[in-house]
Amino acid sequence: MRSQQDSAGGLRHLITLDGLTRDALTSILDRAESYRRLPGQPAYEGRELAGVTVANLFFEPSTRTRASFDLASRRLGAHVINLDQQGSSRVKGETMLDTIYTLEAMNIDVFVIRDSEPGMPEFLIDHVAPHVSVISAGEAHVSHPTQGLLDALTIRTHKRRFAGLKVAIVGDIKHSRVARSSAHALNVLGVSDLRVVAPEALLPAMDEFPGAQRFTRIEDGIAGADVVMMLRIQKERMVQSAALDDAAYFRDFGLDSRRLKLASPSALVMHPGPMNRGVEISSEVADGPRSVIREQVNNGVAVRMAVLAAIAVTLTRHRRPL
Ligand code: NCD
Repeated sequence: MRSQQDSAGGLRHLITLDGLTRDALTSILDRAESYRRLPGQPAYEGRELAGVTVANLFFEPSTRTRASFDLASRRLGAHVINLDQQGSSRVKGETMLDTIYTLEAMNIDVFVIRDSEPGMPEFLIDHVAPHVSVISAGEAHVSHPTQGLLDALTIRTHKRRFAGLKVAIVGDIKHSRVARSSAHALNVLGVSDLRVVAPEALLPAMDEFPGAQRFTRIEDGIAGADVVMMLRIQKERMVQSAALDDAAYFRDFGLDSRRLKLASPSALVMHPGPMNRGVEISSEVADGPRSVIREQVNNGVAVRMAVLAAIAVTLTRHRRPL
């Protein structure tokens, strides 16, 4: 695989957090913090992406990630086009690579891609032109780097540190790219007490999530936790999803206010969305005082601005002269 960074260490692509140092992650979080504006404040408007064209190619459903890449690009001055599966020639059998080459011919500089095929972002960075960047907005169950960053930023904002924190990720860990990227980011940033909590059938393979403790009872997994990150059951990634009973899942694994009492009294409740209320989380908890779920969304725009801005700096070094 080609490197995500150029020889000068600049970010060229972002398809995984693997290989990025603590300093590299921290500098993205710092930059994101400078772009963050609270709802109600005027949004940051800049020219960091002036003259840059971004194509959002979402071949899997998305609300938050897609809207935030679109807004992040526009707020930094980029031109943006949005394509999805139904509206693109991929339904006519065009390959992803032909779609990319077609758009490259229209002077697209940055491709933001969400796709259900593992390995697609890596394949693309091996094939795009030297002046073109690829950002993954979710690769199958494998990785979701900007989600990992926005989760880390949300935790840092509230806890001001990573060392010593107890973080429980609860739910369908096995099929979750969010769990993989968030756990990785938190691990690199210094969280040493990381727990993955799921019914046996939804736990990941033994060799995944190195260093994390594994729990099959939510009560044990969230005990004393500083952060409880809840995940949706990814039925679309299961062969036999019909066998899953939502009510039984909520009874055994749902986060309600009674269970939340087991976590630290100052615990943050997180969820990447989309939530299934009454399945993995009760409305009382999702909308309650410990929930930072909408802050995650707010941070998502800031983190995507930071990643795009960092990539734009690198891009200018690789452009063809006029
Ligand atoms: C998630 C995703 O698509 O991976 N959502 C998101 O990007 N915020 C999680 C999910 O679909 O459950």
